[in-house]
Amino acid sequence: MMKEHRQCFSIFFFIYLVFCSSQFAISQRLVNFISGVPTLWINRPSIGSNFSRRILNYTPILLERNTGLQFLYGFSCNFYHTECFLGISLVLYNSTGETIYIEGGRLVWSANRDHPVQVNATLQLGQDGNLVLADSDGTLVWSTNTTGKSVSGFNLTDMGNLVLFDTTNRTVWQSFDHPTDCLLPGQNLVSGQKLTASVSADNSSQGLFSLTVLNGSWATYISSDPPQYYSTSDYPDSLYYSFDGQTLTALPYPPTSIAQYIQLGYDGHLRVYQLDNLENNMLGLNWKEVGDILTLSDCRYPMVCGRYSICANGGQCTCPVEVNFFKPFSERNPDLGCTELTPISCDSSQYHSLVELKDTAYFSFGFNYELNSSVFWLEGKKIEDCQRACLSNCSCKAAVYYPSFNLNLLRGDCLLLNEVFSLMDVGVGTVFLKVQNSPNAPVIFPRQKMPFKVIIGCTLIGIILILSVCSALSKKRSEKRKAGDFLDLEPILPGILTRFSYNELKIITQDFSRKLGKGGFGSVYEGTLSNGTKIAVKHLDGVGQVKESFLTEVKTVGGIHHINLVKLIGFCAEKSHRLLIYEYMVNGSLDRWITQENGLTWHKRQMVISDIAKGLAYLHEDCSHKIIHLDIKPQNILLDQNFNAKISDFGLSKLIEKDKSKVVTRMRGTPGYIAPEWLSSIITEKVDVYAFGIVLLEILCGRKNLDWSQTDEEDVHLLTVFTRKAEQEHLTDMVDRNEDMQLHREAVTEMMSLAAWCLQGDFSKRPSMSLVVKALEGLVTVETNLDYNFRNVPKVGAGNQPREAAISSKLPSVLSGPR
Ligand SMILES: *[C@@H]1O[C@H](CO)[C@@H](O)[C@H](O)[C@H]1NC(C)=O
Ligand SMILES: *[C@@H]1O[C@H](CO)[C@@H](O)[C@H](O)[C@H]1NC(C)=O
Ligand SMILES: *[C@@H]1O[C@H](CO)[C@@H](O)[C@H](O)[C@H]1NC(C)=O
Ligand SMILES: *[C@@H]1O[C@H](CO)[C@@H](O)[C@H](O)[C@H]1NC(C)=O
Ligand SMILES: *[C@@H]1O[C@H](CO)[C@@H](O)[C@H](O)[C@H]1NC(C)=O
Repeated sequence: MMKEHRQCFSIFFFIYLVFCSSQFAISQRLVNFISGVPTLWINRPSIGSNFSRRILNYTPILLERNTGLQFLYGFSCNFYHTECFLGISLVLYNSTGETIYIEGGRLVWSANRDHPVQVNATLQLGQDGNLVLADSDGTLVWSTNTTGKSVSGFNLTDMGNLVLFDTTNRTVWQSFDHPTDCLLPGQNLVSGQKLTASVSADNSSQGLFSLTVLNGSWATYISSDPPQYYSTSDYPDSLYYSFDGQTLTALPYPPTSIAQYIQLGYDGHLRVYQLDNLENNMLGLNWKEVGDILTLSDCRYPMVCGRYSICANGGQCTCPVEVNFFKPFSERNPDLGCTELTPISCDSSQYHSLVELKDTAYFSFGFNYELNSSVFWLEGKKIEDCQRACLSNCSCKAAVYYPSFNLNLLRGDCLLLNEVFSLMDVGVGTVFLKVQNSPNAPVIFPRQKMPFKVIIGCTLIGIILILSVCSALSKKRSEKRKAGDFLDLEPILPGILTRFSYNELKIITQDFSRKLGKGGFGSVYEGTLSNGTKIAVKHLDGVGQVKESFLTEVKTVGGIHHINLVKLIGFCAEKSHRLLIYEYMVNGSLDRWITQENGLTWHKRQMVISDIAKGLAYLHEDCSHKIIHLDIKPQNILLDQNFNAKISDFGLSKLIEKDKSKVVTRMRGTPGYIAPEWLSSIITEKVDVYAFGIVLLEILCGRKNLDWSQTDEEDVHLLTVFTRKAEQEHLTDMVDRNEDMQLHREAVTEMMSLAAWCLQGDFSKRPSMSLVVKALEGLVTVETNLDYNFRNVPKVGAGNQPREAAISSKLPSVLSGPR
């Protein structure tokens, strides 16, 4: 039966094709067949096939006659002919014997995406030069607005561009200037133009996501007032597009495969589709997704979890735990987001309060909101100012606050949102959601997002702490009340930290005569306690201003104990002196051992690597105070008499406010160990994982990350060498020349893949430190799909101009130099 239909179509179509002899069919020639009335086409779905589910029936207006894949301009309808679109489709035209068929392809441009038309809709090129689409009932649906421009006809170029030209053959209008959600090979997108995604896979109306070119970059956003951006382009040009600051050009032209196109998906992804071969096409065209240009982690897509929902672990969605205010939109389907139980009403703003979600981030944070509206973006604010700003304006639905990384930890940046999309559980930032309390209920104060068990645990610990602190305080108070020490009466945990006087330390260190080294935070001296125990005393110098909370922070650091962390045993805070007293590490820092001729054996190196990983995992995943080290490097890894490795200087970044005149950047760490995402403002513990990856590679290769003694400039950066050797599959060349290391060449090379995993440009692809520990123990295998081009950074934060100037790799480390 189908066959009969086809034959019937084919006769009709054959006649049509005869007249369509030139590559660019001229409209006038086709007119007579399709409707019998000049310059009028009626939507009478005639040909098509039943193989593909999407678009089954066509009323062709322009089509090349060549067999194969091609562009078709005309009407395409769904199977039941209830919705038809005038547009350009990539279709497969075929004829076998007498049978001619068009295999349903993809609609890559549409004139009426928001207003599907019915059968009998008309397209008319009027005497006035206007091309007008009207529905079957005569309603005007779309037109090219080319009245009076002497349009003499139109054609379809072999790039898939519909062009209206005038009597002098000049282009008057073209579909490439009015893109929908697709870009074809060679198609340009310039300032003022945008792609807008569809509502869903089944509804091609304009949805929430757009891609646009503005101010020298291209960017994607979700529509809102103002638009909320979720990616900007400082992506380097790729296989799939090029961008010169003004024009985004899609895909190479002519195409490198049979057919390709880029589509902004209804979920906000920017995907590249490709049809690789025309074999097996009897079951429909098989379009393959070959790339996702944005490469953001899943949680960074604004609607991945719906509104008000928190995305964790690459796609798990949950509503904020505040059950008084939020409930899932659908219990069955958590991806649909959450709704407020009571919508925010501006008439009773006295009942607004904020719910605090700690360690929660927002996708649009870090984009240059200053460029558009300073109302929404506040810099260098206290957290209270940020809350107040949101509470004082009814349009504000949420505030997002990130502490700043300029070492002034009391201030940060604040983003106000008029609309709340998905939130991210990534361990940085705080989100305050505005909620409406009912007039009868008491105003509920901001609560923290914490599991119940943790709350109970922390409360218990808190009570114990308070009790012990109180008893210590009363003892200390009666024992000694030294004058002249403005910070004196801060309570100290007994038995954990010893408080030294400056004079005591002068004696212990023999007047600071034996210097062990100098680091970013100050010089380190050797000392000996009266019982003979050796200690290391760090004099925090060059410190612009010591934080008021110095003692609090010292206590925090002093309370962290782990075999792989250098133990803080005491401190001194007297007048302007701030000193920290650590256990003494006989074998000094790791950097000495890395470059030593005949350095450590493979076994010892394995131990060192595992020690560092465990120490970091503890810092990152410890319950009460997660600490991001921010300056992992061999100089900060110390070795005791048995070559147990311990991490030093952790928590120091929270201890001190650096002299601001010296450090104008928010970036911290040491050049060479700085993870690429420092250029954006999303800093997570994964910066430590990156730095760990560098240290690991240094240990395996027995050389420094930056080695200026290399004669070949290409070999200066260890990472460059790593990328090259990986490409050549010659990783064994990199193994340290040490005899024992050479004996274990294979195991060493294998461990390089762990380093590569830690060094992934996309921080979300790096493993957590606990996963690294497991990998080292052989409990998990290293991810295999690794990108050895470590500079491939998906840009997530900062606009095209990173707010903090890039630190050049030659900048002396004012932050933390070598000891
Ligand atoms: C086309 O396919 C649909 C379902 O996929 C079926 O119901 C219909 O009968 C088919 N039509 C023809 C002409 O084969
Ligand atoms: C389209 O027009 C033709 C001729 O006027 C008519 O026979 C047919 O029923 C119409 N189809 C629809 C779906 O309105
Ligand atoms: C498609 O989406 C638009 C916008 O959300 C909506 O108005 C329209 O009803 C939808 N169409 C269908 C067929 O669901
Ligand atoms: C800036 O914000 C306004 C709304 O405040 C919005 O209409 C406009 O499109 C935005 N402009 C850009 C370039 O994002
Ligand atoms: C409140 O925010 C809106 C934008 O959402 C802004 O136009 C308005 O000026 C703000 N009002 C005040 C009082 O700041």
